[in-house]
Amino acid sequence: MRVLVTGGAGFIGSHLCARLMNDGHEVLCLDNFFTGSKNNILALLGNPRFELIRHDITEPILLEVDQIYHLACPASPVHYQYNPVKTIKTSVMGTINMLGLAKRVRAPILLASTSEIYGDPQVHPQPETYWGNVNPIGIRSCYDEGKRVAETLMMDYHRQNGVDIRIVRIFNTFGPRMAEHDGRVVSNFIVQALKGEDITVYGDGSQTRSFCYVSDLVEGLVRMMSCNGFIGPVNLGNPVETTIIEFARRIIALTGSHSQIVYKPLPSDDPQQRQPDITLARTTLGWEPLVPLEAGLKKTVDYFSGLGAAS
Ligand SMILES: NC(=O)c1ccc[n+]([C@@H]2O[C@H](COP(=O)([O-])OP(=O)(O)OC[C@H]3O[C@@H](n4cnc5c(N)ncnc54)[C@H](O)[C@@H]3O)[C@@H](O)[C@H]2O)c1
Repeated sequence: MRVLVTGGAGFIGSHLCARLMNDGHEVLCLDNFFTGSKNNILALLGNPRFELIRHDITEPILLEVDQIYHLACPASPVHYQYNPVKTIKTSVMGTINMLGLAKRVRAPILLASTSEIYGDPQVHPQPETYWGNVNPIGIRSCYDEGKRVAETLMMDYHRQNGVDIRIVRIFNTFGPRMAEHDGRVVSNFIVQALKGEDITVYGDGSQTRSFCYVSDLVEGLVRMMSCNGFIGPVNLGNPVETTIIEFARRIIALTGSHSQIVYKPLPSDDPQQRQPDITLARTTLGWEPLVPLEAGLKKTVDYFSGLGAAS
Protein backbone atom coordinates (compact mmCIF):
# COMPACT_ATOMS: atom_id res chain seq x y z
CA MET A 1 0.00 0.00 0.00
CA ARG A 2 1.00 3.62 -0.43
CA VAL A 3 0.77 5.19 3.00
CA LEU A 4 0.94 8.90 3.82
CA VAL A 5 2.33 9.87 7.22
CA THR A 6 1.91 13.57 8.04
CA GLY A 7 4.45 14.67 10.63
CA GLY A 8 6.50 11.68 9.50
CA ALA A 9 9.84 13.30 10.35
CA GLY A 10 8.80 13.86 13.96
CA PHE A 11 9.35 11.64 16.98
CA ILE A 12 6.39 9.24 16.68
CA GLY A 13 6.02 9.75 12.91
CA SER A 14 9.58 8.59 12.19
CA HIS A 15 9.05 5.37 14.16
CA LEU A 16 5.76 4.83 12.35
CA CYS A 17 7.41 5.37 8.93
CA ALA A 18 10.10 2.82 9.83
CA ARG A 19 7.48 0.31 10.96
CA LEU A 20 5.40 0.76 7.78
CA MET A 21 8.51 0.38 5.60
CA ASN A 22 9.34 -2.77 7.53
CA ASP A 23 5.85 -4.09 6.80
CA GLY A 24 6.58 -3.67 3.07
CA HIS A 25 4.55 -0.52 2.34
CA GLU A 26 5.47 2.48 0.22
CA VAL A 27 5.68 5.46 2.57
CA LEU A 28 5.14 9.13 1.80
CA CYS A 29 6.50 11.14 4.69
CA LEU A 30 5.10 14.68 4.70
CA ASP A 31 6.58 17.27 7.04
CA ASN A 32 7.37 21.00 7.28
CA PHE A 33 10.30 20.26 9.64
CA PHE A 34 9.02 22.61 12.33
CA THR A 35 9.84 20.11 15.08
CA GLY A 36 10.80 17.12 12.95
CA SER A 37 14.17 16.57 11.34
CA LYS A 38 15.81 14.70 8.50
CA ASN A 39 18.02 12.97 11.06
CA ASN A 40 14.97 11.13 12.36
CA ILE A 41 14.40 9.48 8.98
CA LEU A 42 18.01 9.27 7.82
CA ALA A 43 17.91 5.47 7.74
CA LEU A 44 14.91 5.56 5.38
CA LEU A 45 16.15 8.20 2.91
CA GLY A 46 17.45 6.55 -0.22
CA ASN A 47 15.09 3.59 0.03
CA PRO A 48 13.03 3.57 -3.20
CA ARG A 49 9.85 2.80 -1.24
CA PHE A 50 10.33 5.96 0.86
CA GLU A 51 9.48 9.48 -0.30
CA LEU A 52 9.94 12.71 1.61
CA ILE A 53 7.67 15.66 0.90
CA ARG A 54 8.43 19.04 2.45
CA HIS A 55 5.00 20.61 2.83
CA ASP A 56 2.95 22.52 5.36
CA ILE A 57 -0.44 20.89 5.93
CA THR A 58 -2.15 24.23 6.44
CA GLU A 59 -1.96 24.35 2.62
CA PRO A 60 -3.91 21.77 0.56
CA ILE A 61 -2.02 19.05 -1.30
CA LEU A 62 -3.04 16.50 -3.91
CA LEU A 63 -1.56 13.01 -3.55
CA GLU A 64 -2.62 9.50 -4.53
CA VAL A 65 -2.51 7.38 -1.37
CA ASP A 66 -4.25 4.34 0.12
CA GLN A 67 -4.01 5.23 3.82
CA ILE A 68 -3.36 8.40 5.82
CA TYR A 69 -1.83 8.59 9.28
CA HIS A 70 -2.32 12.21 10.31
CA LEU A 71 0.24 13.13 12.97
CA ALA A 72 1.47 16.57 11.92
CA CYS A 73 1.23 18.98 14.85
CA PRO A 74 3.80 20.21 17.36
CA ALA A 75 3.23 18.16 20.50
CA SER A 76 5.20 19.69 23.33
CA PRO A 77 4.16 22.92 25.10
CA VAL A 78 7.45 24.66 24.25
CA HIS A 79 6.79 24.09 20.56
CA TYR A 80 3.03 24.49 20.37
CA GLN A 81 3.12 27.71 22.42
CA TYR A 82 5.89 29.18 20.26
CA ASN A 83 3.29 30.20 17.67
CA PRO A 84 -0.13 29.34 19.11
CA VAL A 85 -2.05 30.69 16.11
CA LYS A 86 -0.01 28.45 13.81
CA THR A 87 -0.65 25.50 16.14
CA ILE A 88 -4.41 25.86 15.95
CA LYS A 89 -4.20 26.45 12.19
CA THR A 90 -2.25 23.20 11.88
CA SER A 91 -4.91 21.29 13.81
CA VAL A 92 -7.91 22.89 12.16
CA MET A 93 -6.89 23.80 8.58
CA GLY A 94 -4.40 20.93 8.42
CA THR A 95 -7.02 18.39 9.44
CA ILE A 96 -9.55 19.85 6.98
CA ASN A 97 -6.95 19.53 4.21
CA MET A 98 -6.12 15.94 5.13
CA LEU A 99 -9.80 15.02 5.42
CA GLY A 100 -10.41 16.60 2.01
CA LEU A 101 -7.64 14.42 0.62
CA ALA A 102 -9.01 11.30 2.35
CA LYS A 103 -12.46 12.05 0.92
CA ARG A 104 -11.13 12.57 -2.60
CA VAL A 105 -8.98 9.43 -2.76
CA ARG A 106 -11.29 7.36 -0.50
CA ALA A 107 -8.48 6.48 1.89
CA PRO A 108 -8.92 5.72 5.58
CA ILE A 109 -7.48 8.46 7.77
CA LEU A 110 -6.24 8.09 11.34
CA LEU A 111 -5.95 11.17 13.54
CA ALA A 112 -3.30 11.29 16.26
CA SER A 113 -5.37 13.03 18.90
CA THR A 114 -4.25 13.38 22.47
CA SER A 115 -5.06 12.77 26.10
CA GLU A 116 -4.89 16.58 26.39
CA ILE A 117 -8.44 16.72 25.05
CA TYR A 118 -9.43 15.54 28.57
CA GLY A 119 -7.80 18.72 29.98
CA ASP A 120 -7.42 18.64 33.75
CA PRO A 121 -9.61 15.56 34.17
CA GLN A 122 -12.15 15.19 36.94
CA VAL A 123 -12.62 11.51 36.11
CA HIS A 124 -9.74 9.20 36.78
CA PRO A 125 -8.53 7.17 34.92
CA GLN A 126 -10.02 8.67 31.76
CA PRO A 127 -12.30 6.50 29.61
CA GLU A 128 -13.12 7.57 26.04
CA THR A 129 -16.66 8.46 27.14
CA TYR A 130 -15.34 11.30 29.35
CA TRP A 131 -15.84 14.69 27.66
CA GLY A 132 -12.99 16.39 29.45
CA ASN A 133 -12.34 19.53 31.44
CA VAL A 134 -10.50 21.92 29.14
CA ASN A 135 -9.85 25.60 29.63
CA PRO A 136 -10.86 27.19 26.30
CA ILE A 137 -8.89 30.42 26.81
CA GLY A 138 -5.66 29.27 28.45
CA ILE A 139 -2.14 28.98 27.07
CA ARG A 140 -2.59 25.25 26.35
CA SER A 141 -5.87 25.81 24.52
CA CYS A 142 -4.28 26.22 21.07
CA TYR A 143 -3.23 22.59 21.32
CA ASP A 144 -6.03 21.06 23.43
CA GLU A 145 -8.89 22.84 21.68
CA GLY A 146 -7.16 22.42 18.31
CA LYS A 147 -7.18 18.67 18.78
CA ARG A 148 -10.77 18.72 20.02
CA VAL A 149 -11.83 20.53 16.84
CA ALA A 150 -9.75 18.06 14.81
CA GLU A 151 -11.75 15.21 16.40
CA THR A 152 -15.00 17.06 15.62
CA LEU A 153 -13.93 17.52 12.00
CA MET A 154 -13.11 13.82 11.72
CA MET A 155 -16.57 12.88 13.03
CA ASP A 156 -18.37 15.39 10.78
CA TYR A 157 -16.54 14.28 7.63
CA HIS A 158 -17.42 10.73 8.63
CA ARG A 159 -21.11 11.44 9.26
CA GLN A 160 -21.57 13.87 6.38
CA ASN A 161 -19.27 12.46 3.69
CA GLY A 162 -18.75 8.85 4.74
CA VAL A 163 -14.98 9.31 5.18
CA ASP A 164 -13.42 6.22 6.76
CA ILE A 165 -11.88 7.58 9.96
CA ARG A 166 -10.00 6.42 13.06
CA ILE A 167 -9.42 8.60 16.13
CA VAL A 168 -6.65 7.67 18.55
CA ARG A 169 -6.06 9.56 21.79
CA ILE A 170 -2.37 9.22 22.55
CA PHE A 171 -1.11 9.51 26.12
CA ASN A 172 2.49 10.48 27.00
CA THR A 173 4.81 8.54 24.75
CA PHE A 174 8.58 8.41 24.94
CA GLY A 175 11.59 6.87 23.28
CA PRO A 176 14.56 7.60 21.05
CA ARG A 177 14.23 10.60 18.70
CA MET A 178 12.28 12.74 21.14
CA ALA A 179 13.55 16.29 20.68
CA GLU A 180 16.26 17.15 23.17
CA HIS A 181 15.01 20.58 24.23
CA ASP A 182 11.27 20.25 23.88
CA GLY A 183 10.56 20.58 27.58
CA ARG A 184 8.81 17.22 27.87
CA VAL A 185 9.44 15.52 31.16
CA VAL A 186 11.17 12.37 29.86
CA SER A 187 13.68 14.15 27.61
CA ASN A 188 14.15 16.97 30.15
CA PHE A 189 15.00 14.67 33.03
CA ILE A 190 17.25 12.37 30.99
CA VAL A 191 19.21 15.24 29.42
CA GLN A 192 19.56 17.02 32.77
CA ALA A 193 20.68 13.79 34.47
CA LEU A 194 23.22 12.99 31.75
CA LYS A 195 24.66 16.49 32.00
CA GLY A 196 24.72 16.33 35.80
CA GLU A 197 22.47 19.41 35.93
CA ASP A 198 19.67 19.98 38.45
CA ILE A 199 16.52 18.06 37.61
CA THR A 200 13.60 20.47 37.51
CA VAL A 201 10.36 19.22 38.98
CA TYR A 202 7.39 21.55 38.49
CA GLY A 203 5.12 21.75 41.51
CA ASP A 204 5.74 19.31 44.38
CA GLY A 205 6.12 16.33 42.04
CA SER A 206 2.99 14.59 43.29
CA GLN A 207 1.30 14.97 39.89
CA THR A 208 1.18 11.71 37.97
CA ARG A 209 1.88 10.70 34.39
CA SER A 210 1.90 7.37 32.59
CA PHE A 211 4.52 6.77 29.94
CA CYS A 212 4.17 4.51 26.90
CA TYR A 213 7.17 3.31 24.93
CA VAL A 214 7.04 4.39 21.29
CA SER A 215 7.13 0.90 19.71
CA ASP A 216 4.04 -0.07 21.74
CA LEU A 217 2.26 3.09 20.61
CA VAL A 218 3.13 2.48 16.95
CA GLU A 219 1.77 -1.08 17.22
CA GLY A 220 -1.49 0.41 18.52
CA LEU A 221 -1.69 2.89 15.61
CA VAL A 222 -1.14 0.14 13.05
CA ARG A 223 -3.75 -2.11 14.70
CA MET A 224 -6.25 0.72 14.78
CA MET A 225 -5.72 1.46 11.07
CA SER A 226 -6.28 -2.19 10.17
CA CYS A 227 -9.36 -2.53 12.37
CA ASN A 228 -12.32 -2.09 10.01
CA GLY A 229 -15.60 -0.81 11.38
CA PHE A 230 -14.13 0.67 14.57
CA ILE A 231 -13.56 4.41 14.39
CA GLY A 232 -12.79 5.14 18.04
CA PRO A 233 -11.95 7.37 19.72
CA VAL A 234 -9.64 4.96 21.48
CA ASN A 235 -7.08 5.69 24.18
CA LEU A 236 -3.57 4.41 23.58
CA GLY A 237 -1.14 4.71 26.44
CA ASN A 238 0.45 2.86 29.28
CA PRO A 239 -1.78 2.71 32.35
CA VAL A 240 1.15 2.25 34.74
CA GLU A 241 1.12 5.54 36.61
CA THR A 242 4.09 7.19 38.34
CA THR A 243 4.43 10.43 40.23
CA ILE A 244 6.84 12.90 38.68
CA ILE A 245 9.07 12.82 41.74
CA GLU A 246 9.32 9.02 41.62
CA PHE A 247 10.11 9.31 37.95
CA ALA A 248 12.91 11.83 38.57
CA ARG A 249 14.48 9.50 41.14
CA ARG A 250 14.27 6.62 38.67
CA ILE A 251 16.11 8.57 35.99
CA ILE A 252 18.82 9.57 38.46
CA ALA A 253 19.30 5.91 39.45
CA LEU A 254 19.30 4.71 35.84
CA THR A 255 21.88 7.22 34.64
CA GLY A 256 23.99 7.00 37.81
CA SER A 257 23.82 10.80 37.87
CA HIS A 258 24.75 13.13 40.73
CA SER A 259 21.98 15.56 39.73
CA GLN A 260 19.91 17.17 42.47
CA ILE A 261 16.15 17.61 42.26
CA VAL A 262 14.96 21.25 42.33
CA TYR A 263 11.36 22.46 42.46
CA LYS A 264 9.80 25.20 40.30
CA PRO A 265 6.23 26.59 40.20
CA LEU A 266 3.68 24.53 38.31
CA PRO A 267 2.77 26.08 34.92
CA SER A 268 -0.88 27.07 34.53
CA ASP A 269 -3.40 24.39 33.56
CA ASP A 270 -0.89 21.60 34.19
CA PRO A 271 -2.98 18.46 34.76
CA GLN A 272 -2.64 16.84 38.18
CA GLN A 273 -3.32 13.29 37.08
CA ARG A 274 -3.02 11.53 33.79
CA GLN A 275 -3.71 7.83 33.32
CA PRO A 276 -5.42 6.13 30.38
CA ASP A 277 -8.23 3.65 30.74
CA ILE A 278 -7.26 1.24 27.94
CA THR A 279 -10.11 -1.25 28.33
CA LEU A 280 -11.45 -0.32 24.88
CA ALA A 281 -8.05 -0.80 23.17
CA ARG A 282 -7.62 -4.14 24.95
CA THR A 283 -11.02 -5.45 23.89
CA THR A 284 -11.29 -4.06 20.36
CA LEU A 285 -7.67 -4.09 19.21
CA GLY A 286 -6.24 -6.78 21.50
CA TRP A 287 -3.61 -4.14 22.29
CA GLU A 288 -1.71 -3.34 25.41
CA PRO A 289 1.76 -1.98 26.09
CA LEU A 290 4.43 -4.66 26.41
CA VAL A 291 7.65 -2.69 26.99
CA PRO A 292 8.29 -2.10 30.70
CA LEU A 293 9.13 1.49 31.70
CA GLU A 294 12.65 0.55 32.79
CA ALA A 295 13.51 -1.14 29.46
CA GLY A 296 12.12 1.77 27.43
CA LEU A 297 13.97 4.28 29.57
CA LYS A 298 17.27 2.43 29.06
CA LYS A 299 16.88 2.67 25.27
CA THR A 300 16.01 6.34 25.54
CA VAL A 301 18.97 7.08 27.82
CA ASP A 302 21.25 5.25 25.32
CA TYR A 303 19.84 7.40 22.52
CA PHE A 304 20.47 10.68 24.36
CA SER A 305 23.94 9.53 25.46
CA GLY A 306 24.68 8.78 21.79
CA LEU A 307 23.67 12.32 20.85
CA GLY A 308 26.28 13.58 23.23
CA ALA A 309 23.77 14.90 25.78
CA ALA A 310 26.30 14.06 28.49
CA SER A 311 29.05 16.24 26.99
N1 LIG B 1 4.50 12.31 21.98
C1 LIG B 1 3.43 12.26 22.73
O1 LIG B 1 3.53 11.94 23.92
C2 LIG B 1 2.06 12.56 22.15
C3 LIG B 1 0.96 12.50 23.02
C4 LIG B 1 -0.30 12.80 22.50
C5 LIG B 1 -0.47 13.09 21.17
N2 LIG B 1 0.60 13.13 20.35
C6 LIG B 1 0.37 13.49 18.94
O2 LIG B 1 1.13 12.68 18.07
C7 LIG B 1 1.58 13.45 16.97
C8 LIG B 1 3.09 13.33 16.84
O3 LIG B 1 3.71 13.80 18.04
P1 LIG B 1 5.28 13.77 18.26
O4 LIG B 1 5.52 13.56 19.70
O5 LIG B 1 5.90 12.85 17.29
O6 LIG B 1 5.63 15.28 17.96
P2 LIG B 1 6.73 15.92 17.00
O7 LIG B 1 6.70 17.39 17.26
O8 LIG B 1 8.02 15.20 17.14
O9 LIG B 1 6.14 15.61 15.57
C9 LIG B 1 5.24 16.42 14.90
C10 LIG B 1 5.68 16.51 13.45
O10 LIG B 1 4.74 17.30 12.72
C11 LIG B 1 5.45 18.23 11.92
N3 LIG B 1 4.57 19.39 11.71
C12 LIG B 1 4.14 20.28 12.63
N4 LIG B 1 3.34 21.20 12.05
C13 LIG B 1 3.27 20.88 10.74
C14 LIG B 1 2.61 21.45 9.63
N5 LIG B 1 1.87 22.56 9.75
N6 LIG B 1 2.76 20.86 8.43
C15 LIG B 1 3.53 19.76 8.27
N7 LIG B 1 4.17 19.16 9.29
C16 LIG B 1 4.04 19.72 10.51
C17 LIG B 1 6.69 18.56 12.70
O11 LIG B 1 7.74 19.11 11.94
C18 LIG B 1 7.04 17.20 13.29
O12 LIG B 1 7.85 16.45 12.42
C19 LIG B 1 1.11 14.89 17.20
O13 LIG B 1 -0.07 15.11 16.46
C20 LIG B 1 0.81 14.93 18.67
O14 LIG B 1 -0.20 15.87 18.96
C21 LIG B 1 1.88 12.89 20.81
